[in-house]
Amino acid sequence: MSPEVASMPTAFVAGATGYTGREVVRVLRDSGVSTVAHVRPDSPRLAEWRARFGALGAEIDTTPWDAEAMAATLARVKPTIVFALLGTTRRRARKAAERGATESYASVDHGLTRLLLDAAVTSGAQPRFVYLSAAGVREGTRNAYLDARARVERALRASGLPFVIARPSFVTGPDRDEPRPLERSAAIVADAALGLAARLGARRLAARWRSITGTALADALVRLALDPAAEGRIVEADALR
Ligand SMILES: NC(=O)c1ccc[n+]([C@@H]2O[C@H](COP(=O)([O-])OP(=O)(O)OC[C@H]3O[C@@H](n4cnc5c(N)ncnc54)[C@H](OP(=O)(O)O)[C@@H]3O)[C@@H](O)[C@H]2O)c1
Repeated sequence: MSPEVASMPTAFVAGATGYTGREVVRVLRDSGVSTVAHVRPDSPRLAEWRARFGALGAEIDTTPWDAEAMAATLARVKPTIVFALLGTTRRRARKAAERGATESYASVDHGLTRLLLDAAVTSGAQPRFVYLSAAGVREGTRNAYLDARARVERALRASGLPFVIARPSFVTGPDRDEPRPLERSAAIVADAALGLAARLGARRLAARWRSITGTALADALVRLALDPAAEGRIVEADALR
């Protein structure tokens, strides 16, 4: 890590409005890091995010998801850290289809994250790129969600930027405002089964797949973002707690 990252970090947070992202913005500000929270310009909750992030002392940026515009923004902000915390879900994709729009893991989780990565590269700021990937990512997977992340990870490793990749399992908690009953119940059942597995001796397996809250994950992501020794690391779920 360059000395500037250690002394005067400036973070640009994409996906700042998400369950994890909003906590990352809070933890960054609590840590005294100058923070730019990105909110898409057409967000129906833009005023609410302005108030919420503004109260934390974060700058709000509403650059559209356009390659040139994002590159110009990152060249202006010159962040020392870029957080890539965005992603869609099947539910969001269905809602988009109802509006006649197309959203997929390929277009959002891969496409927009690649756009951000390319903008970070061309900005010339050489920021540390902190990418929120997922447990189970591997090359050659036929799962579209994991494949989007595998492709971003590959591009990031080839980008020349300093990076940290985090691979959590379920990211959930009672404080998630978007209801995801299936995900939440799956995490509760999995956590219970993994608790039993841990008691039966499978501690590493249990630690790898247990869920994590947005707050705990944000703490880990900010700690890793600011830790010079974390550069180039792929951090699996058990090391995020
Ligand atoms: N949830 C899990 O169990 C889990 C596990 C492992 C990894 N992850 C990954 O971790 C990341 C963050 O997860 P999370 O649960 O914190 O996410 P989340 O609450 O679903 O938030 C998603 C973020 O992505 C943005 N986004 C979604 N679709 C977009 C689009 N078409 N254009 C622009 N922005 C868009 C959202 O912006 P708006 O608010 O404006 O919609 C929001 O900031 C995701 O990549 C997710 O796949 C999640």
